[in-house]
Amino acid sequence: EASTSASPQPHKPAPPPGAAGSVKQHISSLVASSLRATAPQVDDVQPMVEVCAQNFGDYQCNNAMGLWPRVQGSPGTSFRNPNAIGQAIAENLPACDAIESTSVAGPGFVNIVLSNTWIAKRIQDMLVNGIKTWAPIVPVKRVVLDFSSPNIAKEMHVGHLRSTIIGETLARILQFLNVYVLRRNHVGDWGTQFGMLIEFLFEKFPNWEELGSQAIGDLQLFYKASKERFDNDEEFKVRAQQAVVRLQGGGEKYRTAWKRICQISRNEFDEVYKLLDVQLEEKGESFYNPYIPQVLEELSNQGLIEESKGARVIFIEGHKSPLIVVKTDGGYNYASTDLAALWYRLNVEKAEWIIYVTDVGQQQHFDMIFKAAKMAGWLPDPNEKKFPKTSHVGFGLVLGADGKRFRTRSTEVVRLRDLLDEAKSRSKSVLVELLDKKGKQYNCGFLFAFLITFQVKYEVRFCSGKLVDWTDEELDKTSKELGYGAVKYADLKNNRLTNYTFSFDQMLSVKGNTAVYLQYAHARICSIIGKSNMDVEDLKMNASISLGHPDERALGLHLIRFSEAVEEACNELLPSVLCDYLYNLSEMFTRFYTSCQVVGSEEEPSRVLLCEATGIVMRQIFQFLGITPVYKL
Ligand code: ARG
Repeated sequence: EASTSASPQPHKPAPPPGAAGSVKQHISSLVASSLRATAPQVDDVQPMVEVCAQNFGDYQCNNAMGLWPRVQGSPGTSFRNPNAIGQAIAENLPACDAIESTSVAGPGFVNIVLSNTWIAKRIQDMLVNGIKTWAPIVPVKRVVLDFSSPNIAKEMHVGHLRSTIIGETLARILQFLNVYVLRRNHVGDWGTQFGMLIEFLFEKFPNWEELGSQAIGDLQLFYKASKERFDNDEEFKVRAQQAVVRLQGGGEKYRTAWKRICQISRNEFDEVYKLLDVQLEEKGESFYNPYIPQVLEELSNQGLIEESKGARVIFIEGHKSPLIVVKTDGGYNYASTDLAALWYRLNVEKAEWIIYVTDVGQQQHFDMIFKAAKMAGWLPDPNEKKFPKTSHVGFGLVLGADGKRFRTRSTEVVRLRDLLDEAKSRSKSVLVELLDKKGKQYNCGFLFAFLITFQVKYEVRFCSGKLVDWTDEELDKTSKELGYGAVKYADLKNNRLTNYTFSFDQMLSVKGNTAVYLQYAHARICSIIGKSNMDVEDLKMNASISLGHPDERALGLHLIRFSEAVEEACNELLPSVLCDYLYNLSEMFTRFYTSCQVVGSEEEPSRVLLCEATGIVMRQIFQFLGITPVYKL
């Protein structure tokens, strides 16, 4: 009935602090209930809550200005201007312990200051109940994440490394949010290159079946040699093309050879995944091949597929050339495979969100695939329903010092395994140098620079720990953790759309926004906690946090914004948001530690808890980024 829909809905009680959701989500729900009371006649307003741009508060509500033209002059309202609406929004906020005070500025911006006790309570709840209670709420349960996806027999290059690192991070973030993630390695295992490879194998090694993988040896060199043969010999080319037909027709000898070749590549890929601690399930292009005919038939029945210059194509709005789904020779291609894969992911795997991580060069391709899927009615009109949906996570190039596409000196391709080895050995020399100097003298330049970085006033505080007694094993393990972490972080900290320059010197620097700096910051926090003789587990239950000093409050506020950073990283599919958050956190910690004495102070229990909370949040983000924390440095 008309009258009931116009009456304000009953106010929902605000969720208790520590309940799942970000601070922003919490404030938004308070604002939502205030909006219902303030302007009951308009029931479709979404709360607009942002982090305060200026220092007037912690959060601000920006609804007043937009509401003004809608309530102006409507019966029963007495507002004279947007500022008055802002005042009303502030007054109608439900009573709660989260908000310390509010003020209204200009055309109705409501500035909200959070209460120190509430911030402290939230941190304490996390310490007791775990960081999982800070996971923001997301509206999806099942995601297909297509990442890494190198091509069999071709090089797995730095582009695939980026895809692997970014994809793995997104998977970990989503899993933290309780999303079920199907990690899909969409390897290129079904191209025409296989005809050439198989034919070359038969020709060079008639006894290939007995030889095992030794026949092929280095697959990339083998690929090169067979490509050369293919390009320079017409007769071979014809045989190679016939081999593709035989392979796709299921010829047994051809399938065995194909499987053998795939296995060699797979072993190489797996080695890299193991080093990087990446989980993936391979469903390569060949997997979707049997689904292509029925999917194309469905699209054809809908009248979406046309004949054009001997090929079968789909014309797509906004694109000059159509999407080719059957080539002139009758074969399928990358696009037909992706259509079948998308169909499979939606209908068989029942994914609500399908995410593809590739270089930006493939943006056009994915745009066409997604639009074709919308035309076919597989994906809803985004104005009506949000899910299922698809996203392309594009990224830029990795550049060398010369500003060109990254290559190593020795070979024209960058072997990822070699690259990771180098990161490890370089980080070992950095580490050895550091430990050496620390062992000999505390005042060395390196350590000095380090202390300046952290603005630590009492160097003894940090240097008193024993650092010389490292076993070789420990050294090896730590070098690996520092080195691999540095490679990952150097990639993830950039907005993924930008190109970035690969530099070992930069990523292994102890200063600036690097993983090594963050590892130090973390190890230092642990050493502070270690130096306090208080029992942290006991403090969690029996002490309380107070945020009396401005630097303590700033650190506390930043800590409880963890959920927002995760939420934003997930919504925008941007790991760099978490890197920024992490770097800021370690800077805020330094500021706090510089102005607030921890060990031996009156506030020691509260401050040790703040150290502990900072350590927990840092480690959770390290986990997202695939960085293994180092506890002693
Ligand atoms: N194999 C492709 C490449 O190396 C990436 C595949 C990405 N995933 C997809 N479903 N198309 O560029």
